[in-house]
Amino acid sequence: MAVIGIVREPGGESRVAATPATIASLRKLGHEVVVERGAGSDASYPDEAYAAAEATLVEREQAWGSEIVLAITPPDPERIALLADGATFIALLSPALRPDLVESLAQRGITALALDAVPRISRAQSMDVLSSMANIAGYRAVVEAAHEFGRFFTGQVTAAGKVPPAKVLVAGAGVAGLAAIGAASSLGAIVRATDPRPEVADQVTSIGGEYLPVDVAVEKSADGYAKATSEAYDRRAAEIYTEQAADVDIIITTALIPGRAAPRLITASDVAAMKPGSVIVDMAAGQGGNVEGSVAGARTVTANGVIILGYTDLASRLAAQASQLYGTNVANLVALLTPGKDGVLAIDFDDVVQRSVTVVRDGAVTWPPPPVQVAAAPAKATPAAPVEIPAKKSMSAGRKALLIVLGIAALFAVNAFAPAPLPQHFTVLTLSVVIGFYVIGKVHHALHTPLMSVTNAISGVIVVGAMLQITDSNPVVQVIAAIAVLLASINIFGGFAVTRRMLAMFTKGGQK
Ligand code: NAI
Repeated sequence: MAVIGIVREPGGESRVAATPATIASLRKLGHEVVVERGAGSDASYPDEAYAAAEATLVEREQAWGSEIVLAITPPDPERIALLADGATFIALLSPALRPDLVESLAQRGITALALDAVPRISRAQSMDVLSSMANIAGYRAVVEAAHEFGRFFTGQVTAAGKVPPAKVLVAGAGVAGLAAIGAASSLGAIVRATDPRPEVADQVTSIGGEYLPVDVAVEKSADGYAKATSEAYDRRAAEIYTEQAADVDIIITTALIPGRAAPRLITASDVAAMKPGSVIVDMAAGQGGNVEGSVAGARTVTANGVIILGYTDLASRLAAQASQLYGTNVANLVALLTPGKDGVLAIDFDDVVQRSVTVVRDGAVTWPPPPVQVAAAPAKATPAAPVEIPAKKSMSAGRKALLIVLGIAALFAVNAFAPAPLPQHFTVLTLSVVIGFYVIGKVHHALHTPLMSVTNAISGVIVVGAMLQITDSNPVVQVIAAIAVLLASINIFGGFAVTRRMLAMFTKGGQK
């Protein structure tokens, strides 16, 4: 039976690597759990709750000296020294950015697992702490923005006047971006989003956002993440950001390409064009920032009154929730490492998840792991040339001309040979098709239903006909005419009512 130690995080980090609920899962795997006193107090999990979950409360040295140590933040040299020989240490280690840390963990002769190295494959989703934390952070970014913003998010019509809805732009629709879009749109804001991966468009719209396409294709990478964008893409995207910055009230940036500094999306002149009181949350501030002028970990206010938040601890600001999700992810990893559920840890290097997270094994550096292929991503053989977005198939000019000539010939043939009144009706039909094609073809698809309900007003002609018949001497004709007036009127006024309701769905609080 191995003893798992849950340690108290250093100052500024409110989360804890296990909650009373996740301790129960760890114990079911045959492990004993000790918790450093006060480890969960900043996340609203008091020592008594851990004791009730049958964990033993211990002092710092004992927790750090356990066979398996679960933590969140990377340890400093003083904490590394507290680790027992041969221990297994599991935390966020940023191995790609911190080779020095990997080296010092290796020197202690321990095994170190980096939770931030869990590959993004379906089987590893239950251990993907980066996604769990990004989801929480995206939500929290909206809460922080709403807290700073001096107005409602939702549009309202009140006795004291009409309130327009806030407009939010989310740059980067990955895990954090989608969480931000969902949170902002459920608060009632108009939300727009950009991302070089066009496949996210449906996800953005399904949670209430509008996807702003940058019509330049980007190559996908084999690990499911976006690759660096091309110059042409960046140029077009920059134009969109400049247009949007002048229009929106809140910008939340989450753009990231793994292993690179965060791409710079919002320039100082974009920020200068924003209205005073606007808020920017630069979630990538810790990786160099998506926004010019953002400061990692700080709140800054520009000369034109724009508030820029560069907080890097957004998940930690929702400590209870973040600890619960982090704790569950870690417990799932420990379950994978304890196949016998007998309290014996066994790392299997043939398993891609276990191989990917292990950065040091028994004192030997095993980072970086071999690359992981994501089944949904293109195979390596795919040429590296930019992918062309297939153009919408339209009819060739020759085919169009042929169809027009055939239509005109049919019209003349019917007029020349068909008996009356067929030519007259056929001419009306032909003209309606031509007019309908040009009128409806120019209307956006989303507006076709309101357009149809407006065309119900054509029933007006029935009302006119029925009214002419209503004075007829035959009472049967009078009754039928009255019914016709009633039904056609329902169609007309109902059509307008439906149109109004549908158009209102495209505006928020009466504003575009
Ligand atoms: P992700 O990889 O799921 O999403 C990043 C998205 O950015 C992807 O959809 C990608 O296509 C997109 N992207 C890449 N280049 C872009 C460009 N030039 N323009 C627009 N979009 C672009 O990453 P995730 O997990 O959503 O994290 C996003 C960011 O949030 C990261 O920088 C991460 O470090 C940060 N983060 C910050 C926290 C905080 O407390 N401030 C907490 C958690 C995450």
